[in-house]
Formats: sequence, structure tokens, C-alpha cells
Amino acid sequence: MTDAKPGARRLPDRIRVLPGAVAGTVDVVGDKSLSHRCLMIGALAVDEVTVSGLAPSGDVASTAAALRLLGARIELDSAADGSLTGRVHGGLQLRSTPELADGRVARPIAIDCGNSGTTLRLLAGVAVGLGRAVVLDGDHSLQRRPVDRVLEPLREMGADVSARDGRLPPLEVRPGRLQPITWRSPVASAQIKSAVILAGLGVDGPTTVVSPAPSRDHTERMLRHGGLDVVSTIAADGSENVTVHPGAIVLSEVSAARDPSAAAFWHVAGAFGTGRITTPGVCLNEGRTGALDVLRALGVDVLIEDSGESSGEPVGTVVVSSRRAADHPAMSQPVQVSGTLVVRSIDELPILALAGALSSCGLEVRDAGELRVKESDRIQAVAELFRALGMQLEERVDGFLIRGGQRPGGGSVHAGGDHRLAMTAAIAATLGTAPVDIAGFSSVATSYPAFLDDLTALGGRWEPLDD
Ligand code: S3P
Repeated sequence: MTDAKPGARRLPDRIRVLPGAVAGTVDVVGDKSLSHRCLMIGALAVDEVTVSGLAPSGDVASTAAALRLLGARIELDSAADGSLTGRVHGGLQLRSTPELADGRVARPIAIDCGNSGTTLRLLAGVAVGLGRAVVLDGDHSLQRRPVDRVLEPLREMGADVSARDGRLPPLEVRPGRLQPITWRSPVASAQIKSAVILAGLGVDGPTTVVSPAPSRDHTERMLRHGGLDVVSTIAADGSENVTVHPGAIVLSEVSAARDPSAAAFWHVAGAFGTGRITTPGVCLNEGRTGALDVLRALGVDVLIEDSGESSGEPVGTVVVSSRRAADHPAMSQPVQVSGTLVVRSIDELPILALAGALSSCGLEVRDAGELRVKESDRIQAVAELFRALGMQLEERVDGFLIRGGQRPGGGSVHAGGDHRLAMTAAIAATLGTAPVDIAGFSSVATSYPAFLDDLTALGGRWEPLDD
């Protein structure tokens, strides 16, 4: 078994995607959120953990490299389907009493989280319990993404943490003594919730996170899979209450299901093209199925087959078929996406914007100000993409309004370092009237390095342009 460098694969940075329907069955990449957690929670377990189905992507590579620097042993290799499989032996035992050798302060461990916000925010929670000084930093895009909402609860727990201008990476963690807290998060964010839960594993007593609405609960499910007592309830006002009781994580095997956020690109291609798209083994966590609900509301046929379970997560095959435009239900009002539905479809909103344009009724997204602090300002970036392809979008502070009955034309776009924008542009081209040239396409390697292989396998046409 080799110490593989997942995510090392390069994609062409400039490509041209040609119009043409895509159809067929596609095994999409392993889920990014689950892959991070397989490695992190695997590294916190008492014994060696066998991991499988991980995304061979840049973001997951960042997490693996970070955990190695923190002392975990991680061996990963490529499986036949391109996913990463291997073993994690962490022994990153969290402790509430910092150990400083002979009273001397050890040099901080410098960690580069690359483009990955999940790596940085969740590792902040892990790092505060390690009794070591750690500096978490990232690329240009990550350095403009706020971390203050993670710092506040960690400080409340007693952690000694700071950030540039109090809110931006790099984030510095110094050894401190932690105590259990109840944290009321102002936003429903799985990253914030998970950071607090992971920090809570190193304190004596239960830690509680109260969020205004439920968000993806992968961390909670995987810790339960590892034998921990994690109690989640939803209150009458819709708020989510999660309490984790620390203990030994006993996990021999954990697998990442396939990524619903990656599958969403093909679902939209299938829904508004002329074929049928089948995506087996996709994670169907309630916090991740908002995009399927939005597609259904737009009049798309979505079927779930072969429902099952994998490492404590619901999984299934999603089948999306195109309908003749004439068969789309006639709806005059745009489909509304707000509140909890935004949390459940947050990463899919760029591709859903395209679905809204191609639908008969259109789409209105509100309460999605979070989009402005993702890998790019995704509200502005989607608006620019639409303009470049000759479509209209009304930009709002916390969302957008898109008229239905629009079809992308050809043009040139720049993904601005945002993988989801690059893939949205590629699907727009397949469903559009003329070729689209996409610059900055190599960013797709952060989440879905085999995207172009899958596009080709489904009958899509693309060609590299000179870099
Ligand atoms: C993630 C949570 C979401 C999501 C991100 C991955 C996770 O972010 O947008 O891509 O793995 O916990 P927020 O928790 O900030 O909404």
C-alpha cells in the first residue's frame, strides 16, 4: 500500500464544453463532507480504522496531510472505482490538560488547509483539544472566508484561539484548558456545529450545540457509529439541539457514500436534457436532499431506488428523467427556496440557479447570505455567469430571482477558483445553444477530479484549450 497523494491529479485549466445531451449511469465521487469526517474521526478513534469510498480530491488531500502533521498515520490507495481506500491510525487522543514538555512551548504545527473551509473549521475543533500550538491557514480564497463564528464557541470553552483581524485565517490555536459548554449558534452551520462537537470530545462532561435549524448531521451520525452517546432533538420552534457525551471512539470501518452535491450537476443535466441520469449509492442524509426537493418543485421527475444504509448514513440510487417541455406543469410563480431548504441545498444553489432558468416557472432564493462567503461570493459569481451566457438574474443581498424559460447561450466564463461555478458552467454548456469556454476549470479537482471523465462517459463533449 502506498502513501498516495490524493488530489494530486491536475485538470486542464481552460476547456470548451459543447452543447449536447448527457444520459446514463454515473458513480459520482465520494462525498466530500463524509470523506473529511472519515479521516478526522478515524484519527480520533482508539484503534486503526479502515476507510473507503473517500473522494480523491484536493480538499480531502488537505485533511489527510493536516492529520499526518498532527501525528496520525494515514495510508490511502486508489480503489478500482477511483475512490480512496485505506487505513487511519490516529491516536490523536484529545485531552483537557495541555502537556508542555519541560514547561517549554513547542513550536506551532503549521497546517495548510488549501481551499478547504471544512478542513480548517473542523480541525480548529480538533486542534484545541490536542495540547499543542497549531496554526491553520489556507489559499487566497480560504483566507477571505470568516472563522469568527468558530472562534467564539471555542473561546467560550476556554480555548486560546485568535485569527487575523479577529475573523480571518490564519487561525492560531494555543494549548488551553477546556470545559463543557452549551453553545447557541446564530446560524445553522454544520461546520460550526461540528467544530464545537469535536472540541467537546476532549472535555470532561457533555457539550451542547443549539442551532436555529437542523443542518447536515454527518458528524453526529459517525460518532454514534463509533459508539458515542450523541443526542439530537428538534424543538417546537424548529431549532436543533445536539448533545455529545465524550468517550472512546471504537470504530473498525467507515465508508463515505457518494456525493449528492456532485450528483446534482448530472441531475440537472438529466432533468433539462433529453435523457435519464442514474446516480447509485448517493448519500441521502436529510440535510443534503434539499436540491432533490427543489427539482421536484420545479416539476422534475426524481425517483429514489435501492434505499439502504452505509456507515450510519441513508443512501440510495437517484434517477432523474427529462420531461418534454410541454409536459412540465404550468406554474406561474417562481419556486421559493428559503429557510431550512436553503441549509439543505446550500452547496447546490449555483446549479439550481441554472435549473430555475431552464424551468417553466423560475426560482427565487432568499435567506442565502451564506453564499457570499463560500469558495467565492456565489451570488455575485452566479450573476456574472448568467450574464456571460446571455441569461438574466436579479441579484439580491441574500439570494436571487431567476425567471424561467431561459436557455444559456455560448460565451466565455471564468470560474474564479470556485469548483462549483466551473461545473455549473459546464452543465450550462451541455444544455445550451453554443459552446462555452471555461477558464479556471482546474479548481474542480478540489471536489470532483473525475468530472470530465464522467462527462465523456455520459456522452458529453469537451476539449482542452491552451493554458
Ligand atoms: C459542510 C457544511 C456546509 C457546506 C460545506 C460543507 C460540512 O457549510 O456548505 O460545503 O462538511 O460540514 P456550512 O456549515 O458553513 O453551511
